[in-house]
Amino acid sequence: MRIFLDTANIEQIQQGVKLGVISGVTTNPTLVAKEGHSDYKSVVKQICAMVPGPVSAEVVVEGAHAMLEQAREIASWAENVVIKIPATSEGLEVTSALAKELIKVNMTLVFSANQAMLASLAGAAYVSPFVGRLDDIGSDGMLLVKDIVEIFKGYNLTTKVIAASIRHPQHCLAAAKSGAHIATVPYNVLLQMMKHPLTDTGIERFFADWRKVSGDNT
Ligand code: E4P
Repeated sequence: MRIFLDTANIEQIQQGVKLGVISGVTTNPTLVAKEGHSDYKSVVKQICAMVPGPVSAEVVVEGAHAMLEQAREIASWAENVVIKIPATSEGLEVTSALAKELIKVNMTLVFSANQAMLASLAGAAYVSPFVGRLDDIGSDGMLLVKDIVEIFKGYNLTTKVIAASIRHPQHCLAAAKSGAHIATVPYNVLLQMMKHPLTDTGIERFFADWRKVSGDNT
């Protein structure tokens, strides 16, 4: 499973890329607004230049015609930009038009396997089932990921499944075991994935023992 960073925070992306484990970034209007970025174009271009892989940027207009126009505009900003389109009927129409123009789409706000199937048939390169938001309403978000992976595999559909709305490291582990191609994770979750108390105490003990034999009392 590949890991994308789910953020529009430039410093976090810089750090994530340095770790060498990030192969893409996903943003959404909430994440962009949270960082106070007012110039959408320049921030998307900046992120695309920093990341060695796909960067999802969402359309922020309504209606098929307006979405299509804006998607084409965003697609012209960088080679590695992927257009996020919401999972609606209009979104399907836009996705199929963009796919014919070889513009990659990440169908977002996916909450059912039917939405994912239709997204794939329309030509979406990625679908993003929102795990955490389903868990929030008492559903099983990861079951949706499993269902989509199984259906796509069964019919040789090449659309990649991005487990999105990830809230904690257990979500990442479950996404990997469920066969998700990608998990898009907030920066804090990425750091938590690498953290283990036994690693920390192990390092402390190794250094303490090393200081004893090396006579280093600092
Ligand atoms: C990513 O593509 C999604 O926009 C993001 O994971 C949503 O996360 P949230 O449910 O925590 O807002």
